[in-house]
Amino acid sequence: MNAPAKTDVLEANASAAPAPAAVVPDGVYAETVLSVTHYTDHLFRFRMTRPAGFRFRSGEFAMIGLMVEGKPIYRAYSIASPAWDEELEFFSIKVPNGPLTQHLQRIQPGDQVLMRKKPTGTLVLDALTPGKRLYMFSTGTGIAPFASLIRDPETYEKFEEVILTHTCREVAELKYGFDLIEEIRNDEMLSEIVGDKLKHYATVTREDYPFQGRITDLLENGKIFTDLGVPPLDPAVDRGMICGSAAMLKDTKAQLEKAGLTEGANNKPAEFVIERAFVG
Ligand code: A2P
Repeated sequence: MNAPAKTDVLEANASAAPAPAAVVPDGVYAETVLSVTHYTDHLFRFRMTRPAGFRFRSGEFAMIGLMVEGKPIYRAYSIASPAWDEELEFFSIKVPNGPLTQHLQRIQPGDQVLMRKKPTGTLVLDALTPGKRLYMFSTGTGIAPFASLIRDPETYEKFEEVILTHTCREVAELKYGFDLIEEIRNDEMLSEIVGDKLKHYATVTREDYPFQGRITDLLENGKIFTDLGVPPLDPAVDRGMICGSAAMLKDTKAQLEKAGLTEGANNKPAEFVIERAFVG
């Protein structure tokens, strides 16, 4: 008798239709989530495995995605971990109906995240001419590429002083930045390289806090320089990188140009660079 035939058919069907999580588009990495930290209702960080052959320069971004209803959805994400790190870190907003982030915000350790193979970006040290002091101007999740660069020893080989500015609406949104500084201080090797070269200047715009105001206003009225005890922007020694919303990029760029700095690119290094990848 052929009694087991029914079972055979069921098993054959099961192997012909793999679970959705196992479907990975061709030519894309599928990495495993290692940890997730939620900061606020709309901000979280996650770390995932790094593919063996994946190379990038600190400050670059990659296309990160998930399979949603059988289709891959990708968005540009700055890689927040430095180029030497064995894992990859990302810092993300949670948009309630965001095509990707409404799903991405629910990832758990062990889940799979897709990543396209080619990283790119302009917020890289190679796009700047040599200088003395490097400013990294960020708002919101715009701190992510700088999370990478402030943990890269090369940044401190190239610059005597590194100033990370981070402006958010509310104090709770600054926490990721403070955690980064703490992690650097607690890392024996990095803390020795960084020493006292790194300054973290955090301000908020919609709550009480010792440091308040938009970065553009603080540059305009000079308060940032008084607070940090540094001279006003000087194209001979100061370099800048900017990452934030479209409006913030435009207005901060105008401030740097007013001070005499010119915009550079990978193929034409100059005094400051901007990341436009995240802008609509
Ligand atoms: P504000 O609260 O005054 O709008 P967003 O979430 O809208 O991207 O804002 C993040 C931070 O960036 C907020 O502190 C916000 O200040 C600030 N910001 C928004 N637009 C600009 C701009 N054009 N120039 C400088 N900072 C800005």
